[in-house]
Amino acid sequence: MTRHVIVSAVCGLALGALLTRAASTPGSADGGRALFERRCSGCHALDHEKSGPRLAGVFERRAGSVAGFSYSDALRSSNLIWNAKNLDRWLADPEQVAPGNDMAFRLENAEERAKIIGYLREAASKLRGSEAP
Ligand code: HEC
Repeated sequence: MTRHVIVSAVCGLALGALLTRAASTPGSADGGRALFERRCSGCHALDHEKSGPRLAGVFERRAGSVAGFSYSDALRSSNLIWNAKNLDRWLADPEQVAPGNDMAFRLENAEERAKIIGYLREAASKLRGSEAP
């Protein structure tokens, strides 16, 4: 019994390490769409504004640049470009990236972040109807 618990704990650690590594190289969008729906769609859609800005085309877009969306000054003046690394940092802890921003949400699960970022990358290029990133 005790041994079983220890083994599970060790497995958990190993899995954690794997997931952390996965986050730095965003993987496929497998399941990313469903995760986006579950985690983000309360505030975001791809093609229109909700309480958060539209996210189609967010890849390689400058932060705070959807015309007509009322961003926080913090995000608008952050000068970030939304590449995979910045998106991962933002989703993990928006407050670290742009202190005083308006996105009251964070996603601690690195695997989920990687999948959602993969989905956004694909969705962005499809909706733009242009070259793959
Ligand atoms: C509780 C509502 C809420 C949830 C949930 C939420 N967001 Fe946001 N998001 C916002 C708001 C509001 C902003 C604008 C922040 C600002 O202006 O400071 C924002 C901004 C962003 C931006 C910056 C966009 C730009 O044009 O610069 C990205 C990227 C983003 N969110 C991604 C996500 C993703 C991906 C998820 C799901 C994992 C998510 N958000 C979940 C409310 C939310």
